[in-house]
Amino acid sequence: MDAALVAARARTDRPKGDAEALARLAGPDMAEVDRLILERMQSTVPVIPLMAEHIVSAGGKRLRPLIALAAARAVGGRDLANAHRFAAAVEFIHTATLLHDDVVDSSELRRGKVAAHLIWGAPSSVLVGDFLFARAFELMVDTGQMRALGVLANASSVIAQGEVLQLTRAHDLKLDQDTYLRIIAAKTAELFAAAAEAGALAVEAPDAAVAALRSFGLNLGLAFQLADDALDYGGASEVLGKNAGDDFREGKVTLPLRVAMARTAGREDAFWRAAIDGGQRGDEEFRRARELILGTSALSVTLDMAHDYAGAAKAALCTVAPGPWRTALESLADFAVSRAA
Ligand code: IPE
Ligand code: IPE
Ligand code: MG
Ligand code: MG
Repeated sequence: MDAALVAARARTDRPKGDAEALARLAGPDMAEVDRLILERMQSTVPVIPLMAEHIVSAGGKRLRPLIALAAARAVGGRDLANAHRFAAAVEFIHTATLLHDDVVDSSELRRGKVAAHLIWGAPSSVLVGDFLFARAFELMVDTGQMRALGVLANASSVIAQGEVLQLTRAHDLKLDQDTYLRIIAAKTAELFAAAAEAGALAVEAPDAAVAALRSFGLNLGLAFQLADDALDYGGASEVLGKNAGDDFREGKVTLPLRVAMARTAGREDAFWRAAIDGGQRGDEEFRRARELILGTSALSVTLDMAHDYAGAAKAALCTVAPGPWRTALESLADFAVSRAA
């Protein structure tokens, strides 16, 4: 399981040099994070390491721990022992939410592998997700750094609330943009914000730097989820490592869908109602929805918005001293939007 994240895993349209530079720069820190992850996912209860191994060894982009580490380094941190623990904890929290999310979303593919709940069942997925959450908090307690721990404790409750809010607003054709943004801020951007903030706090950065990193993470996270919502219609399952179309099949009203609905108002209302509200969401309907989304440039609108948030993320770093780590963070903001996986 090579740490080096984005570079190794994702087939991106990012300039290759960027990815390689980042892998070289962050390699030693990420190796330590991976060591912690492997150590702390162990248990004497047999199914736990098996399931943890299934999802952890599949890799993933390791974007959140990378952001935590790069934040710690970018604000001048030298002793990263606690930042490594927070970075591993952030990946555990993320992995826990994936195990839960795939049950909630009935998703069949994750990180290029059959989703854990289809192998071991939904109850085990939920419980092992809980185990990983708990392990994250044990790791954070080891640091003794209450402020950063508080940030990630808060993020965990915000994520859960975001997922529940999303669930209660599925099938809602009238979901407005503010509520959509509130959902993606909570379910996704909050963990990116907390990762960057905790990384800065772990090396005792001054308050202004901590706030800058938090703002960076929040904006990057919004960009990341907007791109994710675009990829759910515009991406290829083989590249994504998860099935495109899951949002549609679950009746989630994401931005691409909202834009397409608005731009086809009066013409396609019956189709959208039957699909999102009426449960007609088979392969044929997905193809039609995809066509309408592409035909109304709804993906460009979504990616343009993602691009704006990535710009805001980079702008938030203006008070951070220039250097390789700040450049690394900037390139991660670009990657959040340009990624294909
Ligand atoms: C997936 O996150 C969940 C979302 C917030 C869209 P990632 O795309 O970072 O998942 P991995 O860790 O690389 O598999
Ligand atoms: C991701 O939402 C948010 C969390 C996992 C908390 P999605 O449902 O869009 O993520 P994917 O597409 O399944 O990775
Ligand atoms: Mg999902
Ligand atoms: Mg998604």
